[in-house]
Amino acid sequence: MVQSECWLLRGVLSFICLLLMCINAAPDLCKPLKTVQEDLNISKRRRFMKMNFPINYTIQVHYEEVFKLRNISRLNMSDDEEPVLKRDLQDLWLTISMQGIKKVLNVLPERHPTRQKYLSNLDNLFKQFEVVYSQQNPPNGEREYPERIQDIFDRLQSDEGWKSVTPKSILDNCYRTMLCLFKECFTKEDDRYDYCDENWRRGNKTT
Ligand SMILES: *[C@@H]1O[C@H](CO)[C@@H](O)[C@H](O)[C@H]1NC(C)=O
Ligand SMILES: *[C@@H]1O[C@H](CO)[C@@H](O)[C@H](O)[C@H]1NC(C)=O
Ligand SMILES: *[C@@H]1O[C@H](CO)[C@@H](O)[C@H](O)[C@H]1NC(C)=O
Ligand SMILES: *[C@@H]1O[C@H](CO)[C@@H](O)[C@H](O)[C@H]1NC(C)=O
Repeated sequence: MVQSECWLLRGVLSFICLLLMCINAAPDLCKPLKTVQEDLNISKRRRFMKMNFPINYTIQVHYEEVFKLRNISRLNMSDDEEPVLKRDLQDLWLTISMQGIKKVLNVLPERHPTRQKYLSNLDNLFKQFEVVYSQQNPPNGEREYPERIQDIFDRLQSDEGWKSVTPKSILDNCYRTMLCLFKECFTKEDDRYDYCDENWRRGNKTT
């Protein structure tokens, strides 16, 4: 009697194990994103994106390449006719982040330590993330972006509207907006911060 219950329990347990394995087999977005997060860590951003550059060094980017938490809340404000989906904002984040990294790589000499020890690798981590991201979010041929999102994508490709920013600010913004748009990957149980709140850093000076 006891033994048969034991067998039954084993059967159930192995079934659960199998089920969990199947769930895990789906490509997990958080894993490659956490690798990106580790590389965007504040000490690395400071060292490779600030200290390795001349003081007050800036590069030219499109206005739209400045993508901050404030932009997210503004774009997310309800518009019943053309609601902006989280997916739209994530698409935007990925495009702007990768474009920003490219911009910095373009001004760096071949042998610059920031390129060799940091940014080329970060660029690759983003490409790996992009693969998993597009597997999980295959393009939806039916749906078009809301107009205000499409406008941004268009202006990102245009030849006008330039602004000077520091290389570090590009990755700072990329990091903060990532925590907001991919919250599920970064929320811890004891988390006191709402990563989409523009003021959350006040209590968390390290990032
Ligand atoms: C950033 O990463 C370095 C090396 O991986 C680690 O030593 C450091 O503690 C990290 N810093 C923060 C603020 O997480
Ligand atoms: C860098 O910029 C700050 C603030 O604009 C300015 O006070 C400082 O003099 C600049 N430093 C150099 C070396 O140009
Ligand atoms: C974010 O806001 C700034 C300032 O209003 C604006 O110049 C920029 O184009 C916005 N970025 C995006 C991606 O909408
Ligand atoms: C966008 O707005 C919706 C509804 O107000 C909210 O639930 C969601 O968390 C917001 N998303 C972001 C990324 O701020």
